[in-house]
Amino acid sequence: MGTAENLPRPARALLWRITAAGGNYLNVSAPSLEAALPLAPPRPALRSQSFKSRDPSTEGGDGVDMELGLAGRRVLVTGAGKGIGRGTVQALHAAGARVVAVSRTQADLDSLVRECPGIDPVCVDLSDWEATERALGSVGPVDLLVNNAAVALLQPFLDVTKEAFDRSFEVNLRAVIQVSQIVARGLIARGAPGAIVNISSQASQRAITNHSIYCSTKGALDMLTKVMALELGPHKIRVNAVNPTVVMTPMGQANWLDPHKAKTVLDRIPLGKFAEVAHVVDAILFLLSDRSGMTTGSTVPVDGGFWAT
Ligand SMILES: NC(=O)c1ccc[n+]([C@@H]2O[C@H](COP(=O)([O-])OP(=O)(O)OC[C@H]3O[C@@H](n4cnc5c(N)ncnc54)[C@H](OP(=O)(O)O)[C@@H]3O)[C@@H](O)[C@H]2O)c1
Repeated sequence: MGTAENLPRPARALLWRITAAGGNYLNVSAPSLEAALPLAPPRPALRSQSFKSRDPSTEGGDGVDMELGLAGRRVLVTGAGKGIGRGTVQALHAAGARVVAVSRTQADLDSLVRECPGIDPVCVDLSDWEATERALGSVGPVDLLVNNAAVALLQPFLDVTKEAFDRSFEVNLRAVIQVSQIVARGLIARGAPGAIVNISSQASQRAITNHSIYCSTKGALDMLTKVMALELGPHKIRVNAVNPTVVMTPMGQANWLDPHKAKTVLDRIPLGKFAEVAHVVDAILFLLSDRSGMTTGSTVPVDGGFWAT
C-alpha cells in the first residue's frame, strides 16, 4: 500500500482533486488513493470524479489541469488546520510544492502531516505578535505566501465588544502584515521574486448584517493588498486577494447553516449556490503561480456573481 508522497505528481494532483471534490478535505487515506488511481487515464472518468460535487450547468471545461509550475516552490500557508487553508495545503502538496503549514491547533497539524508527509508544521497563535516572531522569524526561505487564517466573530453593531474587535483585527489584519513582512524581507534579501495571496471575502465590499467587524477587517485587507502590491511590486513580489462567498468550512458552518439566513445571501448570488473549498483553492493556486505573472493588487471574487448584483 503506497502513500501519497511516493506517487508521481499527476497522481497526487488527481488524488487531491477527487478528495476536495468529495468534500473530504480532512482526511486522505491510502485505500482511497488506490481506489482513485484507476480513474486517472480516461478523461470522462476523471471529469466525473474530479468535479462530481460541482454543478455541470455552470461549470464546463474539458477536465485538463493547467500546469502551474509550483513544484519545488516553498509555500507558507496560515490557517492550515481546517477549511480553505487545509485544502490549499493538500493541493500544494499534491502539486509538489514544499509547504510550511501554520495553524493554532496542534491536533489539526498532526493529522495534516499524516496526510501530507514532508510538510513543515508550525503551531502558533497568530494573534500573539511575539510568539509569531519566535515561531516564524527563522522560518527560512519562503517563495510564496497564503495569508488565510482569520476569525469571524459576528455581533450586532450595537453589541460589538472590544475583545471581538481586538482579536478580529489581530488575526485578520495585523498577522497578515507581520507574516508578510517576514516573508517579503526574506525575498528581498535573496533578490528572489515572490507572490502573496491574502484570503479576503465578499464581505469586504458589501454590508452583511452582524458582520460590522468582520466586514471591516476584510475591507482593510483589500486595501492592504493594494498598498502591498504598490510597495512590493518593484521587488518583483505580487500581492493579490481572493474574495470568496460563503464556503461550508467549519467557519461557514458556524455562521450559515440556518437556511433562512443562508437564503438572504443565496438570493444575491446569480449562480444560486455557495462556493466549495476547491473553487477557492483553484483561484489561490492560479494567483500563486507564474500563470498570473501580470496580476497584482487585484481582488478576485469567487462569489458566484455576488459582487455583480
Ligand atoms: N468559510 C467562509 O464562508 C468564508 C467566506 C469568505 C472568506 N473566508 C475566509 O477564508 C479564510 C479561511 O476560512 P475558513 O472558512 O477555512 O475558516 P475555518 O474553517 O475557521 O479555518 C480557519 C483556520 O485558521 C486557523 N486560525 C484561526 N485563527 C488563528 C490564529 N490566531 N492563529 C493561527 N491559526 C488560526 C484555524 O485554527 P483553529 O481552528 O485552531 O483556531 C483554522 O485552522 C479566512 O480568511 C476567511 O475569512 C471564508
